[in-house]
Amino acid sequence: MPNDKIIFALPKGRILDEVQPYLDAVGIVPEPAFYDSSSRLLQFKTNLPDMDIIRVRSFDVATFTAFGAAHLGITGSDVLEEFDYSDLYAPVDLNIGLCRLSVAMRTDEAAKDNPKSWSHIRVATKYPNLTRKHFAARGVQAECIKLNGAMEIAPSLGLARRIVDLVSSGGTLKANGLSEVETIMDVSSRLIVNRTALKTMPERMQGWVEKFRDAAKKR
Ligand code: PRP
Repeated sequence: MPNDKIIFALPKGRILDEVQPYLDAVGIVPEPAFYDSSSRLLQFKTNLPDMDIIRVRSFDVATFTAFGAAHLGITGSDVLEEFDYSDLYAPVDLNIGLCRLSVAMRTDEAAKDNPKSWSHIRVATKYPNLTRKHFAARGVQAECIKLNGAMEIAPSLGLARRIVDLVSSGGTLKANGLSEVETIMDVSSRLIVNRTALKTMPERMQGWVEKFRDAAKKR
């Protein structure tokens, strides 16, 4: 039943280790290549004839699912906040991928700086919308330079004095001579559902929402 297949979009990278116990708990077993990061496949079969998985970047999980190319997905609350897609429903907090989105700058500058004095700042970030909104709320105009990774080298090379990026252990900031000066939001991964799929396949979609909700409660 290929036209009836549910496409489940999952994020690639470190987070997959935390996603795997959820898949086990809800009874989804991907084909072995899915957990092999050297595999060039992008779409994977599962033990369920009516479900395939795709493995994409977490930002793209939200986009595939918002446009209905995927029906279900797992992505971070940071990504949901950045895009603010109205076609996504995020019913379950999976309590994995825990980290925070923070403003950071060079440690030597942070010591002398007073965030309350900012009026116009330049920020290197993967999150331009969220960053602008965050600063606009307190009257600071943030000029954002969009990067897709390695934000941490921007301050030392003079691209921007400040960055907005995810912080987990803080190791990447420290290794690059940066310090957090402000936390914007705490982040965790969410189960997301395309709203049209929820209307057209209510039982199947609600069934998966309930399974993930139960699995989240049992953790
Ligand atoms: C994230 C984030 C930071 C780092 C923070 O990147 O963008 O660079 O992790 O983690 P830490 O505080 O534990 O050092 P990730 O390695 O996930 O890859 P990415 O740059 O592709 O997003």
